[in-house]
Amino acid sequence: MLSEVLPLTQPAFVDRYRTIRTYSEAICRYLETEDYVVQPIVDVSPPKWHLGHTTWFWETFILVPNLPGYTIFHEDFSFVFNSYYESVGKRVLRTDRGNLSRPTVADVYRYRAYVDTYMDTYLMEHELSPEISALVELGLNHEQQHQELLITDIKYILGHNPLFPSLDIPINQGGLFGGASYDDVQLSEGIYTIGYSGNGFCFDNELGVHKTYLNQTTLSGKLVTNAGYIDFIKAGGYQNFRYWLSDGWAWVKTEQVKAPLYWYEIDGQWYSYTFKGLEPVDPDEPVCHVSYYEADAYARWCGQRLPTEFEWEAANERFAWGERWEWTGSAYLAYPGFSTAEGAVGEYNGKFMSSQMVLRGASVATPAGHARSTYRNFFQPDKRWQFTGIRLAK
Ligand code: AVJ
Ligand code: FE
Repeated sequence: MLSEVLPLTQPAFVDRYRTIRTYSEAICRYLETEDYVVQPIVDVSPPKWHLGHTTWFWETFILVPNLPGYTIFHEDFSFVFNSYYESVGKRVLRTDRGNLSRPTVADVYRYRAYVDTYMDTYLMEHELSPEISALVELGLNHEQQHQELLITDIKYILGHNPLFPSLDIPINQGGLFGGASYDDVQLSEGIYTIGYSGNGFCFDNELGVHKTYLNQTTLSGKLVTNAGYIDFIKAGGYQNFRYWLSDGWAWVKTEQVKAPLYWYEIDGQWYSYTFKGLEPVDPDEPVCHVSYYEADAYARWCGQRLPTEFEWEAANERFAWGERWEWTGSAYLAYPGFSTAEGAVGEYNGKFMSSQMVLRGASVATPAGHARSTYRNFFQPDKRWQFTGIRLAK
């Protein structure tokens, strides 16, 4: 269940590097050039940008500091593909990523091939210190995070094309984790240990390991289904302020939200955009593409609440998870004992610890080998273009 990533011998590292790099390109295999370029909203990056940014990460954090004589591919690429690292230098405004008709898609693929050649040499021919091994491991996990973002961003791009094009996209999900049962889980009151304590890879935000006291609670074994969510819509859920947080109610009104993202009501039947095109909503599937505000309002309508991230972690061996990122009632904050790494990688997670909520689990778009029971994903409460869903607690 946990990805037990043991320290790797170099050939194994090269192997994983190649497999992961290849999968990023496989996700994009059936895109047309035009699909690679658009940025319909600020949260969604053009696929071309993801392919360049992940490559820039290897070039900047592994090759430039460690491979003697390495020459960067292009002097403008750090400006174009640096996402948010203040310590690395200036970068294109996030809102301008969709204006980058140059460098071309072909340039980006050439950049990938160039960096891959040098990474191969580097991984094959150099003794890796524990510090560099840890950075390579971070690079691999970073590329996997962007694989999920590629899938969600491509879905948004095609799902907002009025023609609702279908796309054959290779989803290589890790499967289901935790318990096999969909029965509710009773968590007894007591002291629980939270955080990653294995000897494989984890992100810094899963540390430090600490204890927390939890009250007795029940977590639902099953995620909220589309049928359940349709009941909320039919009951006037989006019209009644009583279910909503103040920010959530403002969001519903300003954005005129009436259903999850990608949902359309046609002649009394709900349809949603999927990679197969517009499809009738399957009542039995877990609801997807809801914001924290919607998840919270749904729970309130049921007289329940969202689990905290600590309850989720304490109980996750006993329910099935892995289909949806699950909104928790926990704000994304540092664990006690959390420390920020030296240098640019210290900007990776810690500086985002304000105004975001924690999501637990993994989704259908999370690549195989990337899920972990202590994984902390995080987004602002109005975001819903990730594969998000709802588990209840009471
Ligand atoms: C953990 C998914 C919120 O989207 O920025 C990518 C992942 N971090 N590159 C994000 C990430 C650095 C991150 N999330
Ligand atoms: Fe990134």
